[in-house]
Amino acid sequence: MIYADNAATTKMSGAAMNAMLNCMEETWGNPSSLYGLGQRAKEALEDARERIAACIGASPKEITFTSGGSEADNQAICSAAALGARNRKRHIISTTFEHHAVLHTLKKLEGEGFEVELLPVGELGTVTARQVAEAVREDTALVTIMYANNEIGSILPIAEIGAVCRKQGVPFHTDAVQAAGHLPIDVKAQNIDLLSLSAHKFHGPKGIGVLCARQGIPLSSLIEGGAQERGKRAGTENVPAIVGMAAALEEACARLEENTAKVSALRDRLIAGLSQIPHAALNGDPVNRLPGNVNFCFEGIEGESLLLLLDDQGICASSGSACTSGSLDPSHVLLSIGRPHEVAHGSLRLSLCEENTEVEVDTILKAVPEIVGYLRNMSPLWKDKVSGKKKFIL
Ligand SMILES: Cc1ncc(COP(=O)(O)O)c(C=O)c1O
Repeated sequence: MIYADNAATTKMSGAAMNAMLNCMEETWGNPSSLYGLGQRAKEALEDARERIAACIGASPKEITFTSGGSEADNQAICSAAALGARNRKRHIISTTFEHHAVLHTLKKLEGEGFEVELLPVGELGTVTARQVAEAVREDTALVTIMYANNEIGSILPIAEIGAVCRKQGVPFHTDAVQAAGHLPIDVKAQNIDLLSLSAHKFHGPKGIGVLCARQGIPLSSLIEGGAQERGKRAGTENVPAIVGMAAALEEACARLEENTAKVSALRDRLIAGLSQIPHAALNGDPVNRLPGNVNFCFEGIEGESLLLLLDDQGICASSGSACTSGSLDPSHVLLSIGRPHEVAHGSLRLSLCEENTEVEVDTILKAVPEIVGYLRNMSPLWKDKVSGKKKFIL
């Protein structure tokens, strides 16, 4: 099998698994219990908090554990909105191509009287700090803009956007789910007030994440109950997953440069090869993109069929995001960068990690053109294009 869907999820690392196993055997108590076993679990929890904070330039007090990226996004946005509402600020700035964890939370807030302004992301899938500066108003409660896009991999100028927000006194949240462990993060240097990350995107376990909130930004709780996480997130902490996440993030950060060099070379080989396919186009920024992200549109095919045929050859890939696959709507991300519906339906995302090899890339490079050719030959629409009855788009 060739796994090329690391933006959907990653395989857990040995370090993360060992840390979790060790925790389940040795420190499996409830961190709130007063006896030794509980206190050892508490120590493991706090040790993980410190190590995670160190990886992103935060203080341990700023780290709240959540069930993953979606919960962290929800809590960050709802907290900033509640804070804004207390000061009569009800304007929120974001972008058209955020993850649904952000967009759907914003939709909910719109229903509660907030005004949401989604900045256009242009052909390359980015926004500038200037666009943000021009959009900020007296009543802006929050700017929430992702660090890197999960579908097309474009990397946004987060530090510059953060600087604009800091200057204007507006809280800035970034969904760094696709960036953590793959791009450098320093919440202080990048002027980030609220940051979400999720362990399963950097070889950690699923169902665990972090909301990092700068001291002074009050969090509202989404889950009421016990006083865990300083009263900001009730529920017994998932200590094994938290410990696994710390091990995975530390490893990813320690190997960031080495992994980036290796993975981006594989990505560039894949992009160069797929670019040879006629009537195909790379989606996203060719230069400023996540090391492992490759995303193409192939005119005249359905992405779903391409995925099924790749699966037959043991290649795991994705069309649109994992969350939207299964729905027939074209990806909102591809529409937001200006791809027409017809072309957006023919998309393929391959997302690599440091465990992929050149041989795997070459296998993909053999499989994709063959399958695209096969699907096009079966398509009446394609025949119309070839005969000149209909125009090519790409
Ligand atoms: C950019 C982005 N934000 C949020 C999420 C949601 O994270 P989780 O699966 O941990 O809830 C994802 C997952 O695909 C993502 O890619």
